[in-house]
Amino acid sequence: ASMRSFLKDLPKCEHHLHLEGSLEPDLLYPLAQRNNITLPEQFPKTVQELEERYTRFEDLQDFLNFYYIGCEVLLQEEDFFDLAWAYFKRSAAQGLKHAEVFFDPQSHTSRGVAIETVVSGFQKACVKALQELHISSKLIMCLLRHTPIEECKATLESSRVLFETGQLHALGLDSAEKPFPPELFTECYATAKEFHPDVKLTAHAGEEGDSTYVENALDLLNVTRIDHGVNSAQDPELMARLARENIMLTMCPLSNVKLQVVKDVSELPFDKFLDAGISFSLNSDDPAYFGGYILDNYVAVQTRFNWDMQTWKKVVKQTIEGSWCDAKRKNELH
Ligand code: ADE
Ligand code: ZN
Repeated sequence: ASMRSFLKDLPKCEHHLHLEGSLEPDLLYPLAQRNNITLPEQFPKTVQELEERYTRFEDLQDFLNFYYIGCEVLLQEEDFFDLAWAYFKRSAAQGLKHAEVFFDPQSHTSRGVAIETVVSGFQKACVKALQELHISSKLIMCLLRHTPIEECKATLESSRVLFETGQLHALGLDSAEKPFPPELFTECYATAKEFHPDVKLTAHAGEEGDSTYVENALDLLNVTRIDHGVNSAQDPELMARLARENIMLTMCPLSNVKLQVVKDVSELPFDKFLDAGISFSLNSDDPAYFGGYILDNYVAVQTRFNWDMQTWKKVVKQTIEGSWCDAKRKNELH
């Protein structure tokens, strides 16, 4: 109990959270009903059955199949608001102070929902989170790497004004990794940077893909952050580069176990990364699917690694420094 309360009190920032991945079964079914959505016939019929199904995934794709069905219940601006607000409230109770959160517009625009509806609902939740929970936040738009490149380009074009006006802060890349390497998205990343010089770039890499996915994301997409990056530990030269170029890895311990990237949290290369001087943060990825929010991930790490106070101070400090908020906000967080 005292370990949990020590970790709860740390000023935590989250860098790797898919808002659609925070859709809890107990919100999914009410939203389906509210929007008159018929879920697929084989889909679990109750909250309890769905929670049971979420306790085991074969791999990333098995999880994604459920994740995209979940997205189908989101239609109206208030649905996106309710989803994000539920995430902020649950995370506030776990000591979250700052969140840089992903969303997948294509999983909604493909069903006829306007990107402005999605962003507006999320943004209202972000405003309320700052006012009422003192959680600051940034929105990161992700492209779905399994979709045709022309669709990605169209999505990017539809988001231009949102980036130009600072409503969207960064571009990310997610979904099925291995058949869709970073090099497919070189042009999209160059385009996003042209929208506004302050646009930040990140990409999922090295979750199921090997260390070359991380290397190519750095070389070809010009990202300054890597989401997951677990498999960077395969390559000592890459590790030296991540340290030298101060690239932050947004690690997701419970996710990696649930998607069978590793068998146990204890197998994650945190000690290697610490020794190499690589910055990483600890994150929940898709908490409704993987059985834990941010503090649960901190606890899972501490249970295996038993870090001393000094190590936690270092991890918290590098997490704040690696955040995309301004210097004033970073100061408040420290
Ligand atoms: N979409 C949501 N969560 C994801 C993850 N962990 N990897 C790739 N795509 C995702
Ligand atoms: Zn992710």
